[in-house]
Amino acid sequence: MSGAGERRSEAPIGVFDSGFGGLTVLSELIRKMPGEDIVFVGDSARCPYGPRALEEVRGFALQICGWLVDQGCKLIIIACNTATAAGLQAAQMRFPVPIIGVVEPGARAAAHATRTRNVGVIATQGTVASGAYERAIHNIDAGISVTSLAAPAFVEMVESRFRDDDALPAAGQGAGALFADAAHARTVAEVLAPLAHAPIDTLVLGCTHFPIIRELIAGAVGEGTVLVSSAEEAAHDAQSILARRGELACAERTAHRRFYTTGDDVEDFERFGALVLGSPMTGAEHVVLPEV
Ligand code: DGL
Repeated sequence: MSGAGERRSEAPIGVFDSGFGGLTVLSELIRKMPGEDIVFVGDSARCPYGPRALEEVRGFALQICGWLVDQGCKLIIIACNTATAAGLQAAQMRFPVPIIGVVEPGARAAAHATRTRNVGVIATQGTVASGAYERAIHNIDAGISVTSLAAPAFVEMVESRFRDDDALPAAGQGAGALFADAAHARTVAEVLAPLAHAPIDTLVLGCTHFPIIRELIAGAVGEGTVLVSSAEEAAHDAQSILARRGELACAERTAHRRFYTTGDDVEDFERFGALVLGSPMTGAEHVVLPEV
C-alpha cells in the first residue's frame, strides 16, 4: 500500500440523512467495518425532506456533502433515499471522493429477492415522484413490475415519537419498542392498505426511517412478503469501494465517531440516536452548515 493510501485509510466515512433514518445505514456500516472513523450528520432542522421539491433537497445534499468533504471524508454515503434521488449524481459530479446513495443498493436487493418479479416500494413523496426506484430496478431487470406507495406518515411517526419526552423504552430495548402499541400498528396498516391487492412478494423499505418500524410493517404486510432495505447492500458497497482503493481502515483500531445535528435538541438526538444505532452516541454536537 502506498503512503498516501495508508493516510487515506485513517480518514473518516461521511454519512448523512434528514434525521434519524441514516443511523439504520450507519449501524450496518459499523457492524461491517468497526474500525472506520465516522462523521454523521442528521439534518433534523430541515426534516422531513420528503415533501420538499427535489431541487431544494439537491441543494441540501450538495451543502452537506461539501461540508463532509471539508471534514476530510474519504467516502460519503447519502443515507437518505430522498436526497439520493434528488442529488446523488450532482454530488458525484461536484466532489472528488466516491459518493454512494441508497436507492441502487435497495433496488439491487429487491431485484435479487423477488421470485414472482412483483416488487413494492414504500418511500417518501419525493422519492416516489422521482421514479428513481423504478429506474434502478428496471436497470437490473426490466421485467419486474414495480408498485410504489408514498408513506410520509411513517417519517412523521418516527420523528414525532423521537421528540416525545415520555418515550423511554426499558433498558436493553431497541427503538422499535417505542412503536409497539395498537395505535401505531393501526396507522401502519391503514397507510399500507393500498398495497393489499398488489401481488408483490418483496417490499423495499425505500426510506431509511422505515427499518425503525420494520416489525410493524412486517406485521401489516404479512409473512409472505420479504422486506428489503438498503442498509446492508450500501455498507457492502462502501466496503468494496474502499478495499479496491486500498483505503480500508484496520478493523481492530479504535474508531472515532462524530455525530452532528442541525437541530437544536442535541440531547434527544443522542438519546434516540443511540437506540436506533444500537450503541452509545455520546458527544453529539449542533452544527451550523455554511451557506453555499
Ligand atoms: N430518511 C429519508 C429517506 O430515506 C427521508 C425522510 C424525510 O426526511 O422525509 O428518504
